[in-house]
Parts: sequence; structure tokens; C-alpha cells
Amino acid sequence: MAASSKWQGAMAASAKGKATRPRVYARLRPMFGRDAGQPELFTVVDGTSLDYRKEETSDISRFTFDKVFGMDSKQEEVFTTIGEVALSSLRQGFNSTILAYGQTGSGKTFSMEGAKDKDTGRYTQPGLIPRLFEQIFIKFRSDETIKSFEMSLQFIELYNEQLQDLLGKRKVVDVSMDPSGGYQCKDAVRHVCKDALDAQRVYEQGCAMRATASTKMNEASSRSHALLQISVNWTEQKGKSFGVVNLVDLAGSEGLKKSGAEGQNAKEGIKINLSLCKLALTVKCLAEGATHIPYRESKLTMMLAKGLGGSNMLHIILALSNSREQVHPLIASDGL
Ligand SMILES: Nc1ncnc2c1ncn2[C@@H]1O[C@H](COP(=O)(O)OP(=O)(O)O)[C@@H](O)[C@H]1O
Ligand SMILES: [Mg+2]
Repeated sequence: MAASSKWQGAMAASAKGKATRPRVYARLRPMFGRDAGQPELFTVVDGTSLDYRKEETSDISRFTFDKVFGMDSKQEEVFTTIGEVALSSLRQGFNSTILAYGQTGSGKTFSMEGAKDKDTGRYTQPGLIPRLFEQIFIKFRSDETIKSFEMSLQFIELYNEQLQDLLGKRKVVDVSMDPSGGYQCKDAVRHVCKDALDAQRVYEQGCAMRATASTKMNEASSRSHALLQISVNWTEQKGKSFGVVNLVDLAGSEGLKKSGAEGQNAKEGIKINLSLCKLALTVKCLAEGATHIPYRESKLTMMLAKGLGGSNMLHIILALSNSREQVHPLIASDGL
């Protein structure tokens, strides 16, 4: 296996300092279910590197990241490393995009949203989204230099290369160029949140709308990309300002053959791979400081354009599991 995926290539290229370098993190989920007791595919070497070994007899490949979160990592730690950075960028008027990429079942939703108690519906291990909701209100309310602020949400699903408004009864919406030369989804509902609880309630309503289809890989495998956009507008002494945080739970990166998808599912799979491919290309161009960034080539990248490029910061969480049944995201991202 080549010791570099596209994401890794992006890291290396941008280390030359041409653009705000995307930060790439790996998070290994604990072993349970069918993985329990299996030899580990990944071994954490230190805080920034991982060794990958396909079989006990195969060669070891080493991968380096900005940070590696091991199997026992805590949600707080992920928030401190990624969420707090996005929060402080937001306060300074910069945009951020946090992406979770990986196979179905590798822990994307766990990192982005968290785990809930089945009976009470309450978070037992809240992830980045609920923590950001809370911390945004805490930060902006407690800052005496801020005269007023408004936090709002848009929640859109990209399914079959079609954008559907999760806060607007799945209405099909489109993304278009806005007057500032960026992109916006102006027909989608933007819910102004009065507090973190309100944001959480709206987010959960949107989640209930998400499309899932069963594949052999996972009963409720997510076949769509979920794009949550938190916008904050505020007024302070020096005037008005705003910032955006995009939180993206990408569809599973598994290959079609592996998930046994046929018919409608296979069609979805092709579209999922297409948008992931364009996303990888965009990240690569950003990292290399290319003059032309191909945002227009897919709806996913157009939607994220506001939080990418320039001084805006991209955080990629590569969710990994030790499951041997899966085509590994490191390999899958090579093939993107
Ligand atoms: N770091 C972790 N610690 C504990 N449980 C985890 C962790 N990552 C994932 N899980 C659990 O593994 C299962 C699959 O994770 P999930 O986030 O749903 O995967 P994905 O969204 O990538 O399909 C869920 O039950 C989730 O709660
Ligand atoms: Mg998920």
C-alpha cells in the first residue's frame, strides 16, 4: 500500500505553507462486536502516528496526522483539539469546516454528534455538534465586547447529488452564487436559535429526516452526506461581523462491491463516491495553493466553499475501525 492517501498528500503539500493547511486527525474506535478479540489493524505509535498492518505477516505502513485519537480517546479531548479551535476562529470572524470521513460503522457520527442513551434519548457521550451549540452560546453571551448576536442553523442533506432541506420538509434546494462570489443555499430554511437547547431540538428534527437505506454493511447505513451549517452574526464595538462552522457527517466511504449494494443503492453509491472524489480534489487544490479551486464541480464542495480556502480552516477527522470486513478508509481514500 502506498504510504500516502490523498488527505496525507494534502498535508504534505500544504506543509510548504501555501495556504491554511487542512488539519487531519485519525480517530480509532474501540473494538467491539465482530472486531472484538481480533488482531488490531492499527497500532497507535504516538500522538501523531499510526501503524497499519493488514495481516500479521504483512509489512507495516506508518501514517502521520496532526493528531491521533486512540481507542480510549474521550469526546472532551476531540472537542478541545478541534471544536475549540473552530470556536475561536469563529469569534475572530473566520469560517471552519469539520468533516468526518470513513467507512460506515467507523465512528463518524460518534465524533460529530455523539452517543445517546436509547431509552432517554439523552447524550451519554456528546460529540462536537452538541458541544459547539452550548459553547457558542456561552462564548458569545459572556463576551462583554459583544453587543448582540444571532446564531442560526441550516441543515441540508446531499442525497443522490440532490440537496434536500432537512429543516424544510425535504424540499429540494439548490446552491447558487451569492453576491460576494461565494455560494449559498438561499431557499433553504435558516432557523434562528434562541439557545443551545433550541439548536439541539432543531438539529434532532433534521436528523429524523435523514435518508437511510440498509446495506449488508450496516442495517441503518447512511447513504447521504449531512451538512449542518452554524452561522453567527454579531455586533461589537468595531462593527458587525459573522462566521460560519460547517459540520459534515459524510456518507460511508465503503466501496460498492464490499457493501453488496445493488440497484438503487449502487446508484447512490456512485454519487456518494463522486462527491467524495470532488471533495478530495478540492482539498488537494486548497492544500497545494492552486489558483483555481474546483468548487463548482460538485454540490458538496459548493456548499462547503464558505468554510474552505483562504484563512478558513478545514479539519478532517478520519474515522477508523479495526474491522477486517471493511475496505479501509486509508486505502479507500487512496482510490478516490
Ligand atoms: N470512539 C468511540 N467510543 C465508543 N463507541 C464508539 C466510538 N466510535 C464509534 N462508537 C460506536 O460505534 C458504533 C458505530 O459508530 P458510528 O458513529 O455510528 O459510525 P458511522 O457514523 O461512521 O457509521 C456506534 O454504536 C457508536 O456509538
Ligand atoms: Mg453515521
